[in-house]
Amino acid sequence: MKPLSTSLLALALLTAAGLAHAAPNCTLKLKGDDRMQFDLKTATVSASCATISIELTHVGKMTAQVMGHNVVISATKDVAGIAADGMKAGAAAGYVRKGDARVLATTPVVGGGGTARATLAGKRLTPGGDYSFSCSFPGHSAIMKGKLVVTK
Ligand code: CO
Repeated sequence: MKPLSTSLLALALLTAAGLAHAAPNCTLKLKGDDRMQFDLKTATVSASCATISIELTHVGKMTAQVMGHNVVISATKDVAGIAADGMKAGAAAGYVRKGDARVLATTPVVGGGGTARATLAGKRLTPGGDYSFSCSFPGHSAIMKGKLVVTK
């Protein structure tokens, strides 16, 4: 006969896994560095969140003028266009064109040691849609981007 404790443990693990899967993820935390990299290639958030909190920490030492980073949330197809228009908009605009409807959310640009935040209403995202997070600092978005998976 199977020991009772083993069965209970298995049940507890299954329950915990189920809860973890069901819990909405309302936070996107990213780190950017002096090597023009985000620490994540993929992140997951939930469209059911009233508000998704985005937090970027620049863990490098270089200045925002040289190695600035932001986090832009958009449809994947819009990453290159947003970056191109952001470059034209310039540093004063945070490398995001004012009123760019393709931009779902963006943080300010920060340099080494800095932290920047933004928020996004979950209802603006469609579960299963093709979204990305990227940095619109000139020349960064080709490398500095990742997939934003959106669950319910
Ligand atoms: Co960058």
